[in-house]
Amino acid sequence: MPTKTFKALVVEETAPGTFIRSIRERSIVDLPDGDVLIRVHYSSLNYKDALSASGHRGVTRNYPHTPGIDAAGVVEESSIEYITPGDHVVVNGVNLGTNIPGGFGLYIRVPASWVYKLPENLSLKDSMVYGSAGFTSAFLVYKLITHGVTPDKGKILVTGATGGVGCIAIAILAKIGYNVVAVSGKTHGKQFLFDLGAQEFLHRETFLIDVDKPILKGTWAGVVDTVGGDILSAAIKSTKYDGVVTCCGNVASSELHTTIYPFILRGVSLLGVDAPHCPEDIRLKLWHKLANEWRLDHLERIYSEICLEELDSAIDRILKGQIIGRVVVNLIA
Ligand SMILES: NC(=O)c1ccc[n+]([C@@H]2O[C@H](COP(=O)([O-])OP(=O)(O)OC[C@H]3O[C@@H](n4cnc5c(N)ncnc54)[C@H](OP(=O)(O)O)[C@@H]3O)[C@@H](O)[C@H]2O)c1
Repeated sequence: MPTKTFKALVVEETAPGTFIRSIRERSIVDLPDGDVLIRVHYSSLNYKDALSASGHRGVTRNYPHTPGIDAAGVVEESSIEYITPGDHVVVNGVNLGTNIPGGFGLYIRVPASWVYKLPENLSLKDSMVYGSAGFTSAFLVYKLITHGVTPDKGKILVTGATGGVGCIAIAILAKIGYNVVAVSGKTHGKQFLFDLGAQEFLHRETFLIDVDKPILKGTWAGVVDTVGGDILSAAIKSTKYDGVVTCCGNVASSELHTTIYPFILRGVSLLGVDAPHCPEDIRLKLWHKLANEWRLDHLERIYSEICLEELDSAIDRILKGQIIGRVVVNLIA
């Protein structure tokens, strides 16, 4: 019987430290063992995918490799009773696309514990408009809520605002009644952010003017930080009494310089999230919210759609911080 092949983006190390990306034919028999074989219909581009696709060993240890931490598709084979061929599923796995072949290929084979049946009212494509970025946004918002930040407490600051995590966090927060202030490096992204529901726009440089001061005027009841570095530092220092700062990313820097004053004079809390390790019950709850009460009314405003062949340039653009909103990858076009 002929071996089934499929198209995938493959990243290879051609010389020490030199990585190239190309679209290759891969074989299903070369996929790792797993309970469920899925034909991927859509994936999405996240910052972590771009790191994996450019040889970042902190994300992906071994090359050649197919990135893609997100995948939504249809089950083709399953050795598990409760997952059956034809099921529409989304995959969120700790290692998908980082250390096992991911959603930038038309097929993946994964453990059953990574496979979630989609809520009925969420399509394969919509699930990838959210993707890992959207799920992380939901997790960050959930952290704020469960730590007592209600809409009446005051303004919520969102950094990296035009990025995947930032823009969906803004849209969810605005939808559920929060007053959101967006920090962005893109003046041309201002209208996009207002359309999502942000009420104020702060340019990144303006926001950073006083970052070296030990503490700043207490302004935010809550923060969703996606970039780290000086922006996170300024956000912590300008959070008001009893405020909550959530963080998830290090696009700006993995360093954090702050004084102790926001914590001991204002009782500010700093909470990190690690979405791949989100507890199972919370993960299901958050996907349900994204499909229902947190569902965004105008998902089409948030994403652009590309095919596998267009990924290479999109990866370069996300690494330069040039993309606005989410990028959905259509593998069945
Ligand atoms: N911990 C977790 O579980 C988890 C889960 C998902 C993502 N993440 C992390 O969260 C971060 C954001 O992910 P993403 O997928 O939303 O990335 P993204 O789509 O690339 O968005 C990042 C945004 O950050 C801003 N930015 C870029 N370079 C910057 C710089 N040098 N200084 C300050 N801001 C800069 C840009 O927005 P503006 O131009 O609007 O400022 C950019 O659009 C990444 O570090 C990612 O690895 C973590």
